Amino acid sequence: MLNKVLEVVKMQNLWRRKQCLNMIASENVLSPLAEKLYISDFEGRYNEHDEECHYQGTKYAMEIENIVNKIFGEKFSTPFVDCRPIAGAIANLCVYHAFLKPGDVFIAPGLTAGAHVSSTEYGIASVKGLKSISAFFDFERFVLDVDKTALLIEKLNPKLIMLGRSVFLFPEPIKELREIAGDSIIVYDAAHVFGLIYANEFQSPFEEGADIITASTHKTFPGPQGGIILAKADFDEQKWKKIQRAIFPGVISNHHIHRLPALAVTALEMNEFGESYAKQIIKNAKCFAQALYELGFNVLCEEYGFTNSHQILVDVKNLGGGKIVAEKLEKANIITNKIALPWDKDKDATQNPSGIRIGVQELTRWGMTQSEMKEIAEFFKKVLIDNQDPSKVKQEVIEFRKNFQEIKYAFSLEGEIYEV
Ligand SMILES: Cc1ncc(COP(=O)(O)O)c(C=O)c1O
Repeated sequence: MLNKVLEVVKMQNLWRRKQCLNMIASENVLSPLAEKLYISDFEGRYNEHDEECHYQGTKYAMEIENIVNKIFGEKFSTPFVDCRPIAGAIANLCVYHAFLKPGDVFIAPGLTAGAHVSSTEYGIASVKGLKSISAFFDFERFVLDVDKTALLIEKLNPKLIMLGRSVFLFPEPIKELREIAGDSIIVYDAAHVFGLIYANEFQSPFEEGADIITASTHKTFPGPQGGIILAKADFDEQKWKKIQRAIFPGVISNHHIHRLPALAVTALEMNEFGESYAKQIIKNAKCFAQALYELGFNVLCEEYGFTNSHQILVDVKNLGGGKIVAEKLEKANIITNKIALPWDKDKDATQNPSGIRIGVQELTRWGMTQSEMKEIAEFFKKVLIDNQDPSKVKQEVIEFRKNFQEIKYAFSLEGEIYEV
């Protein structure tokens, strides 16, 4: 059995790390230095704390946590940062736990408009017995419908409004909603776009009126898997204390300290290279969408430039549906995922929805630019339109990937700065 375990890890490292085109919009890879620091003595330690540390032996654990909070605090110009949530979904739970009680109603994007399940009653919102009411969405323009949602806010006067989604092509109208939201707390779930926002691309939630940002630290932000919560600089201190109490002792005990050195390194790398990384992601996403479109794919939102983020949506119903298409692509070592589109019926949405969602953030990390996006679009055509044997295309993909084996926008293993 031990040999089997070693073999599985070896095969994973070979396949997904070296031979695949990884295009799942919620994934990424650590830089070599961050990955090296991911394994340390911190991996087996605890640091349960509020103002006081409840165990001995935590001086370095506290120091690394403070370093992480300081780096993010400087970037977002706020003293209110907490990196203890162990996932983006858990960060959301902490915020709900801080401000909402069972039976409370809050407004969130809604599943058919690309919300993450954690902001719905199928997911974490139900853990607290909350009622999540969907905001209105303009399915033509693929952005939140401000006028209709304004009426909903007026009617419900919710304590909390969630923005941000898993299917996220264009920025949220935070400014417009701030004017309407009154005392409601606006939480911007930046799980997907945190790397773009950190690099000053996409949108600036605090400047535009959000009170709180929750995020994953491992999607467009290319850090270790984990979560984070930030509040705007002039956030009420008592409310911030509520969030911290919701984190511990409310929701989290051990906060997986071993990820924090890698998170600190990734943030420092983002300070150095984040702007060029994020700009290239957006250029790649637009270019890839255009290339697919020109090859005959039904890429959504052509009239709006396809996307302003790392994501692209393709309606593949006429090619067999999202499930069939994603499985065919996997046979060619191209990793994507099926996704429900707003017009899908419930049954199709869970089984074989109309769409696939594609993210280009990891390909960008491997150093790919516009010319590679055009080549990859051709691979999609070979598999999905020309119906070539996917195992033949797989060999071409493996050959193509051989030229992209080094992570860019990163320090060297010794902490030196690689050229981008
Ligand atoms: C909008 C949004 N929020 C929260 C999450 C959950 O993040 P995590 O997987 O870090 O728990 C996701 C995951 O994809 C997401 O898309």
